[in-house]
Amino acid sequence: MNADNELGAALRDGLRRLAKAVVVITSRHEGARFAMAATAVSELSMDPPSLLICVNRTASLSAPLSAGADFCVNILHSDQADLAIACSGQVKGEARFASGRWIGADAEPPWLEDAQASFACRQEQALDYGTHRIVIGRVEAVRLHGEIDPLVYVDGRYARVA
Ligand SMILES: Cc1cc2nc3c(=O)[nH]c(=O)nc-3n(C[C@H](O)[C@H](O)[C@H](O)COP(=O)(O)O)c2cc1C
Repeated sequence: MNADNELGAALRDGLRRLAKAVVVITSRHEGARFAMAATAVSELSMDPPSLLICVNRTASLSAPLSAGADFCVNILHSDQADLAIACSGQVKGEARFASGRWIGADAEPPWLEDAQASFACRQEQALDYGTHRIVIGRVEAVRLHGEIDPLVYVDGRYARVA
C-alpha cells in the first residue's frame, strides 16, 4: 500500500468513530424533487443562522444545488433508517419520496413531517473542493417534531443515542 492509500484507509477508519446524525437533504429543480441521505452536514453560525452541507458532485442532488436551488435539511428519527437507506442509492429519483410523510408547497424543497427537525435553507454560497461541493444555506425556517431521538451513523451502521 502506498502512503496515499494508507492515509485514506486511516482516514476512513478514523471517521468510523465520528458519530453523526443522519439527515435527508431535499431540493427541487425544474419540477423534480431530489433527496439524499447525508452526514457531512454542520451547523455554521447563529448569526447569520446558517448550515453547511457537503455533497458529492456525482450525486443526483448536485444538479439542483449547482443551479443554485434552495434545500431543506431533515434530521431523521431513530426509526427512519429505511428512509436513509432508500435515499442513499438503493432507490432513485422521485421514488425516494414513496415512503415518509413529505409536505411543503410546490415551490419549496420538501419537508419530512415527522423528522426530528427540518431546516429550510436558502442557498447563499458554494465552493467546490475535490470530489465535493460545500454549500452554505441561510436558515429561513425551522420545524421540530417529537422527543429527541435522532438516527445516528457510527462505525458503518445505524444506531441511536439512548
Ligand atoms: C449514512 C450515509 C451518509 C452519507 N453522507 C453523505 C454526504 O454527507 N454527502 C454525500 O455527498 N453523500 C453522502 N452519502 C451518500 C449518498 O447518500 C449517496 O451517494 C447518494 O444518495 C447516491 O446518489 P444518487 O442520488 O445519485 O443516487 C451518504 C450515505 C450514507 C448511507
